[in-house]
Amino acid sequence: MKYTLCVLLCSAFFVHNVYSLQGGTTVTLGTHPSHALVLVEQVPHGGTIVNINHVVTSCRIVLTANNELRPVAQFAIRAGGITFTEGTANTVTAIFPHPEFNPWTFNNDVAVANNFAFNFNVANPPIAPAVLNERVFGEQTDCFVVGFNAPTVAVPNPPLLQLVQPVLNRATGCNAATVHNGRVLESMLCGGVLGANSGICPSTIGGGLYCFGNFTGIATSGTGCGAANSPGIYTQVRHHVQWINNQLTRTQIPAAGPTHPPGVIVSAAVIATVAHTLLICLAFLITIQCLFNAIF
Ligand SMILES: *[C@@H]1O[C@H](CO)[C@@H](O)[C@H](O)[C@H]1NC(C)=O
Repeated sequence: MKYTLCVLLCSAFFVHNVYSLQGGTTVTLGTHPSHALVLVEQVPHGGTIVNINHVVTSCRIVLTANNELRPVAQFAIRAGGITFTEGTANTVTAIFPHPEFNPWTFNNDVAVANNFAFNFNVANPPIAPAVLNERVFGEQTDCFVVGFNAPTVAVPNPPLLQLVQPVLNRATGCNAATVHNGRVLESMLCGGVLGANSGICPSTIGGGLYCFGNFTGIATSGTGCGAANSPGIYTQVRHHVQWINNQLTRTQIPAAGPTHPPGVIVSAAVIATVAHTLLICLAFLITIQCLFNAIF
């Protein structure tokens, strides 16, 4: 029993730590010029270059488990390479998490990092801004997610990989009880396969999903590293084009520290309203009852 548990734990550890994109294939330099490596305290994640000094990524990597915005000094952004050491390293000057990011449902999982400017005017390293996709694509459209094949910088020279992620039907494919069980919201899309050995891992979070070459999704969850029934879940870029564009001209730098998840505020408000309503009803019923008793 103990032995079995150990083997299971070890294999889980192995699967989750070796691959960043289970089943992905290597790419040549310049294939994904918008992909950025976003290091958070040296832990690799993904991002997408959208203009000369902004990268779109996930709130899940810019906030701590306690929903605190991480200080900019914890980040480094690298772009233009197909290995960790290639390309240019950039420091981050500001992080803008979506103010309505919900850390329980991952709704509105989009953040923008403002960094030291990229140089688009040189052939090498090849860096270019992504085109934000505003179209709705049907299921089974071929899309690629991009990410480095390593969970830590300790892995020597990990390559950049891409993985085909066909968009699946949200209702019948992804939200089935055995798959993501309703967790894929309307603002998200789901891509990949239901079978094993192909899928995204935690280090893919924040990385871009490109459909017909255009920036369509931000990897947010479904990071089962190729486990069966764990297709990738992506924030749909088209739902946030306006918000992303608004961040590109922001100059006020959000302070590191506590953020206020809307889920908490909304549910507290809802609970208060419901409780208040119930109390009023109860008082009303008691009054009616008293009157009724007094009359008859
Ligand atoms: C991708 O973006 C380009 C540039 O805006 C556009 O011309 C093209 O139609 C887009 N492709 C799709 C499939 O939406």
